[in-house]
Amino acid sequence: MCGITGYVGHEEAAPILLDGLSKLEYRGYDSAGIAVRDNDGKVRVVKAKGRLKILSEKTDGGTTLPGHIGIGHTRWATHGEPSEANAHPHISDESSDSSAVVGVHNGIIENYHELKEKLIAKGYKFYSDTDTEVAVKLVDSYYRESGSPLEALEKSMVVIRGSYALAFMFKDYPDEIWTARKDSPMIIGVTNDESFIASDVPAILKRTRTVYYVDNLEICRVRAGDVKFYNIEGESRPKEAVSISWDAQAAEKDGYEHFMIKEIHEQPKAVYDTLSTLLKDGLTDLSSTGLEDSLIRNFRGVTIAACGSAWHVGIEAQYLLEGLARIPVRVELASEYRYRDPLPGFWEMNSDTAPAAGPVAGDLVIIISQSGETADSLAALREAKKRGAHTLAIVNVLGSSIAREAEFVLYTHAGPEIAVATTKAYSAQLVAIDALALHFARVRGVITEDKERQMTAELMTIPDKIRTLLEEKDRIQWFASKKINTRDAFFIGRGLDYAVCLEGSLKMKEVSYVHSEAYASGELKHGTISLLEQGTLVVSVLTQNRVLEKTLSNMVECKSRGAYLMAVTTHGHFEVEDIADFTVYIPKIDEHFAGSLAIIPLQLLGYYTSVARGIDVDKPRNLAKSVTVE
Ligand code: F6R
Repeated sequence: MCGITGYVGHEEAAPILLDGLSKLEYRGYDSAGIAVRDNDGKVRVVKAKGRLKILSEKTDGGTTLPGHIGIGHTRWATHGEPSEANAHPHISDESSDSSAVVGVHNGIIENYHELKEKLIAKGYKFYSDTDTEVAVKLVDSYYRESGSPLEALEKSMVVIRGSYALAFMFKDYPDEIWTARKDSPMIIGVTNDESFIASDVPAILKRTRTVYYVDNLEICRVRAGDVKFYNIEGESRPKEAVSISWDAQAAEKDGYEHFMIKEIHEQPKAVYDTLSTLLKDGLTDLSSTGLEDSLIRNFRGVTIAACGSAWHVGIEAQYLLEGLARIPVRVELASEYRYRDPLPGFWEMNSDTAPAAGPVAGDLVIIISQSGETADSLAALREAKKRGAHTLAIVNVLGSSIAREAEFVLYTHAGPEIAVATTKAYSAQLVAIDALALHFARVRGVITEDKERQMTAELMTIPDKIRTLLEEKDRIQWFASKKINTRDAFFIGRGLDYAVCLEGSLKMKEVSYVHSEAYASGELKHGTISLLEQGTLVVSVLTQNRVLEKTLSNMVECKSRGAYLMAVTTHGHFEVEDIADFTVYIPKIDEHFAGSLAIIPLQLLGYYTSVARGIDVDKPRNLAKSVTVE
C-alpha cells in the first residue's frame, strides 16, 4: 500500500528514487511519480499511471531529472481513480516551477473534505481528487504564515485526522526533506553524507543498513547524512539508529522466477530460524518475548486478533491452545474487534456474573501480523491495551508499529517477505504458535516436560519434511496446469485441517483469481453443496485421524455430485486414493503440527495455477502487501 522514497546526498537522486520504489513494488500500487530539485532550486515532477517501468521509461531511468535531492511515490488509489493527475508527488503551486511545497503521502486523511473546503475558502484551487493534495496545500498555508517547515508540520498534524507518512520538500530549504508520521510506516537510512527515506527497509538496503525508525507523531528533518527528530510540540528528540541484519540479497529473487516461489522454498529456513529462538535444550523458552511464566499461569483466557492469513494462523492457534494447553481462546478479525466493544473474556461469565464492558485485565490478547503495520491489527492492539489486557505481538518486521506498541513481542524470523501473498511468514507464524501452545501447556501443568520434549523434537522435523514436500512440486505443477480452467474451488477439512483449508483457499483465490471458498467439511451440506457442478474442484485436507473418515464421507458426497477431488493426507492413508482423483501425501508427523506440512501443496497449487493463467503472481490485482488503511 503506497510506497515512499526520498534521497538527499551527492549522487543523482532520480535513479536512486526509482530503484527504491522498485523495491517497494510488492506493497501494491497503480501509479507512480518522482520529484527532483535541481541545483537552481527548480523542482520537476514526473508521474505515470501503471507500472513503474512506464515512469522509468518516461524519465530515461531518471537521467532526465538532474538534482541531488528528491522524493518518490508509488500510489495505491484511495481518493480518486488511478491517474496521472492523482499520482503523487503533489505540489502547492501549479503555476510555478519552484512550488513552495512538494509532497508525497501514504495513508488516509479522514477529514480531507472539511480541510479542502477551508482551503478553498482561503483561495486554494485543486487539480486532483486526492487527500494528499489537501495535505500539501494545508502545509503550504501554514508555511506561508511562518516560513518554518517545522511549524507548518506541527500545525498540520494537529488538524489532520487519519493516518499518514508524509515527506515534503520546501522551496526555501533546498537541501532538506521533512517528514511526519502517524500510523503509517517510515524509516530513514543514513550514511556519512547521504540520507534515504523509505516506507520499508528493502528500499534502502543496497545503500545502507543504518536505519532510524520514525515514531508516531514524530517530525523529522533530513539533510545529507544528518537527521534530526522533533515531537509534535517542535521539541528536538534524541534517537538511536539501529543496524539491519538482513542482507540486500534477501530481498532479491535470487534466480527464482517469482518472489512467491522463492519464499515458498525459504520456508524450511523460516521455520527453523523461528523455532531456534523459541526452543532451548529440548524445551520451549519464551524468554526472548519477555512473557513470564508467572503471568502465563494466571491468564484466564486468550483473545487473538489478526487479519487475512494471520487470522487463519489464529484459527489454528485456537485448536492448539485449547487442545494442548486447555485455555479458552477466541479468535477475532481485527477489523471487527476494534469497533465491537468486546466484553471481558467469555470464559469468565456464568449466570452470577453480569457481563459488563470494561478492561480485560487478566487476559492475554495476541496480535499476529507479518508486517506489524496492518492498520486494523494495530487498532485492535491499542483497543486491547486500553481495556487493560496484556498484549503479545507475533510479528515479522523488526521495529514495526505493532512490535513497538505491544507489551511483549515474539519475533518470527522469516526475513523480508516481498510477494504480496504470504507463505514463509505464515509458516513462521504457525510454528511460533506451536511453540507457544506447548509452552503454555507445560507451564500450566497440562503436559509433562517429557511430553514437551517429545513434541518439540517433532516440531524440529518440520523444516526437513517441508523440503521433502517441495521435491514433489512438479506433480502439483502438472495438476495445476490440468485444472487451469477451473472456475470454482472448495477446500474442505475438519478441525486443524479446516484452518489449513482457510489458508489454502485464500492462496488460490488471491493469486490465481479462481473463485474459492473454505468450508468445515461437516458444514458443506448446509448450503454450499448446491454450488457443486460436474468438474468443480474440491480440495480436501485429511491429516486428523479422529475426523478423517468423516471427511472421507464428505468427499464421497461431493464426488457423487460431480466434483473433481484433490486430497492432501498423511502418508499411510492410502484409502484416500480410492476416492480422490489426485492425492498428495505429506510425511508423518504429530497431528498437531500437520498444518505446517499440509499447507505446502496448497501454496504450490495457488502459485502454479496463477502462473499457468499468466497472472502477475507476486503482485495480484487490487492487493497491497501491507494494509495500512482501514
Ligand atoms: C494473504 C496475506 C494477507 C495478510 C493480511 C495481514 O496472503 O498476505 O491476508 O495476511 O493482510 O497482514 P499482516 O500479517 O502484515 O498483518
